[in-house]
Amino acid sequence: MTNTLKQFMDEQILLIDDELYSLVDSIQAPEQLKESMLYSLKAGGKRIRPLFVLAVNQLFNNIQKEAYTVSAAIEMIHTYSLIHDDLPSMDNDELRRGKPTNHVVFGVALATLAGDALNTFSFGVLARMQNVSPEIKVELINLLSVAAGAEGMVGGQVLDIDGESRSLNLDELEKVHVNKTGALLRFSIESGAILSNASENERAILVEFAHHIGLAFQIQDDILDIEGTSEELGKTAGKDVASNKSTYPSLLTLEGAKKKLNEHYEIAISNLSKLQGDTSLLRELTEYIVRRNK
Ligand code: IPE
Ligand code: IPE
Ligand code: MG
Ligand code: MG
Ligand code: MG
Repeated sequence: MTNTLKQFMDEQILLIDDELYSLVDSIQAPEQLKESMLYSLKAGGKRIRPLFVLAVNQLFNNIQKEAYTVSAAIEMIHTYSLIHDDLPSMDNDELRRGKPTNHVVFGVALATLAGDALNTFSFGVLARMQNVSPEIKVELINLLSVAAGAEGMVGGQVLDIDGESRSLNLDELEKVHVNKTGALLRFSIESGAILSNASENERAILVEFAHHIGLAFQIQDDILDIEGTSEELGKTAGKDVASNKSTYPSLLTLEGAKKKLNEHYEIAISNLSKLQGDTSLLRELTEYIVRRNK
């Protein structure tokens, strides 16, 4: 990782986390619910999606205060998706972000409800943003609901489970990745552009960039499930093979998956060169995604 990226991450993750924790601290709710929500938020996590919001926002102007609020909303949705993904009825995982999973600590009922609360709270957070026009707020809320819901992450999770009982073909698998992982990453990138009032053309280029980022991100997740250890990943390694899941490595072999990963990386990078301004940070984040070891 270059010094510039490291400095950006060190500085910005503190600010992202401040916004995230203070929003959740302010909720008037049963203490055990807040405790369960904060447990998973504070367990760690790379904060990749928020970093994309900020990096795109910074491409067009100085980072806006509202970009941190949108980042927090996205990280809430992402964390809720992980809490539910780990439930016994889904991936049945006991380790997440290097800690026991939410349901192991708080029980299945409270873990499910903590996920529900993070999900719904994120939309309220967007609705209550100051200094953003009503039109832009509605656009963000609408796009996040599509990205997170049946036409995005949730729909992708359903197809992903389908891929355990039958072998998906490459088109189907690409659809799983685009939805379960790509949709929220796309919203992260697109929302940064919307907050910055980017032009239609700039937005279209960034959406294309996001498409390949989403695929690259999940392909690397699938590769790490095979090549990483539970200790490095902070989550149980080898889960996909154990549950007979359709993944890029299972369909294309490890070598084939790495080749695909590289193709998506190259196309993502080539989209960045169509943009004006300093895209070096976005390039470095892209590189980080494909080279990451957790
Ligand atoms: C894990 O996401 C789940 C996927 C969508 C692949 P991350 O790898 O971003 O998980 P954290 O937030 O760093 O824990
Ligand atoms: C999960 O994909 C994607 C989500 C929407 C949470 P995985 O099931 O592969 O994520 P990990 O490997 O458990 O983090
Ligand atoms: Mg899963
Ligand atoms: Mg999982
Ligand atoms: Mg995985």
